[in-house]
Amino acid sequence: MSISFEGRVAIVTGAGNGIGRAYAIELARRGAKVVVNDLGGTRGGTGHSDAALEVVEEIEAAGGEAISNGASVTEFDQMQAMVAQAKDKWGGVHILINNAGVLRDKSFAKMEMADFDFVLKVHLQGSAYATTKTLALEGAKYNVKVNTIVPVAATRMTEDILPEQVFETFAPENVVPAALYLVSEEAPTNAMVGAGAGGFHSAWVGMNEPLWLPEDERTVEDFAKHWDRISARESLLFPQSGAEQSALILKAAQQVKGGT
Ligand SMILES: NC(=O)c1ccc[n+]([C@@H]2O[C@H](COP(=O)([O-])OP(=O)(O)OC[C@H]3O[C@@H](n4cnc5c(N)ncnc54)[C@H](O)[C@@H]3O)[C@@H](O)[C@H]2O)c1
Repeated sequence: MSISFEGRVAIVTGAGNGIGRAYAIELARRGAKVVVNDLGGTRGGTGHSDAALEVVEEIEAAGGEAISNGASVTEFDQMQAMVAQAKDKWGGVHILINNAGVLRDKSFAKMEMADFDFVLKVHLQGSAYATTKTLALEGAKYNVKVNTIVPVAATRMTEDILPEQVFETFAPENVVPAALYLVSEEAPTNAMVGAGAGGFHSAWVGMNEPLWLPEDERTVEDFAKHWDRISARESLLFPQSGAEQSALILKAAQQVKGGT
């Protein structure tokens, strides 16, 4: 099976370095027209540089097509302008990889709220300005697919975190096969995939079968009494939405009430 991105337009945020750069280069190598977004800051998210431009030059030197965009994912107007830039140049956008990220790694006690807010702004708001996971449900009827990649890669973000002896094993290129499959025409939707050092796995948000308690047993003490059952990891279920979760709870209630 050969997966091509010919005729596709892709935006990769934070593609000036690390994993995003590897995504952008491989997407372009496989025919995609790529918007290389990156404001070119430090690992902690301060400052600016031409990181995106350098990746564009690399792609063009290899015969690919790309444009650079220096916007910050934290600025909604700039994200709208970025999408407009891609549409104006290439007529549409088919693929978005929300990859931009920063690291302000501190222990709980030492973390300033300003750092915490900033990390949330880049990772959560920055992704939401383009998409959220609910889009997988809402977009299904329009063939919009939304997937999550959980990478482990040796980049500037992890250079003092990953042990030195395994650093090369975790080259960012090892994350690329999973990420590109998840943005291809064959992609599933609502999948969460982990990738690093050649290892690939799925991850799920799961729940066990709900234990339903009648009204006169809904006390803290009753909850405590049933904790082993409520926290059991057997018979896991994987609801795709809050609505499915509610249905499973109601089913458990009916089973108790119906005596099944
Ligand atoms: N490396 C890992 O093992 C690992 C593990 C889990 C998650 N991640 C996530 O993967 C993504 C890529 O990480 P990486 O390891 O390649 O790090 P990296 O620092 O090499 O690359 C991140 C890029 O995002 C850019 N960026 C930061 N803030 C931005 C903003 N506001 N707007 C636009 N661009 C911005 C940076 O300039 C940088 O080029 C990040 O979201 C990171 O949190 C990485």
